[in-house]
Amino acid sequence: MDKILRVEKLCKDEIIKDVSVGVNQGEMVAIMGPSGSGKSTLLYNISGMDQPTKGKVWLKEQEITALSENDKAKLRLHQIGFVFQQMNMMENLNILDNILLPAIQANKEKKKERTEKRELIDEAARLMEKLSISGLEKRKITEVSGGQLQRACICRSMINHPEIIFADEPTGALNKGASEEVMNALMSLNREGTTILMVTHDSRMASRCGRIMYLLDGQLQGELMLEDCPKDSFKQREEKVNQWLAKMEW
Ligand SMILES: Nc1ncnc2c1ncn2[C@@H]1O[C@H](COP(=O)(O)OP(=O)(O)OP(=O)(O)O)[C@@H](O)[C@H]1O
Ligand SMILES: [Mg+2]
Repeated sequence: MDKILRVEKLCKDEIIKDVSVGVNQGEMVAIMGPSGSGKSTLLYNISGMDQPTKGKVWLKEQEITALSENDKAKLRLHQIGFVFQQMNMMENLNILDNILLPAIQANKEKKKERTEKRELIDEAARLMEKLSISGLEKRKITEVSGGQLQRACICRSMINHPEIIFADEPTGALNKGASEEVMNALMSLNREGTTILMVTHDSRMASRCGRIMYLLDGQLQGELMLEDCPKDSFKQREEKVNQWLAKMEW
């Protein structure tokens, strides 16, 4: 299978130690591990938000770790989507304008072949419909629920058609119902082919992924494949994950 992401012996200060991983095109992978084990640090150093002290990262044929800061910023804008627990939406913009922001930014950088604003709005509407938040376009970010806001963040992360989404505890600030909505949204994007790498504390959310990696003290301790058991119910998968996590001394 084609690897979309390859990480080779990545180190960051004393926090991440020699982590090597590969992510296949179209996979949905969770990173779990105790608080302080380095999950966020690993995600930031893989995704070009931070520069590792050692090691290499490739997104397809492109070595992210060899890019200049400027080229990394471009890569983050055009090829990567980010979703965070603290959603980082602009308070002075409505939901639609927040979703459009990365697309407007990308347009500014293009000299030719700018996308018409109308087309961008249509694309935002398509994403919002897909994530079941149509009709919220004109709302302020304080006028929607947490689950709706996080789904708007996912639309924003998708607006420039990224090759991969990195998510750091996307359901970390949400209650059970809203977490479920957000997870369903991510799963539906993944079914359509978007590769997703997400950090989560929630074994329910992780059990929806095809694979879970366990990080402890900055090192990968183990991996659980769930893709092999697509026929299992969510409940069976969750039990499998919980048993595995108990073995990992989670
Ligand atoms: N910018 C930084 N400078 C120095 N140390 C940092 C920095 N960011 C994180 N750390 C340290 O690195 C370790 C790993 O932090 P990280 O945020 O990656 O953990 P995490 O697994 O994401 O934890 P959590 O589950 O609580 O989010 C911690 O000991 C933390 O204090
Ligand atoms: Mg973290």
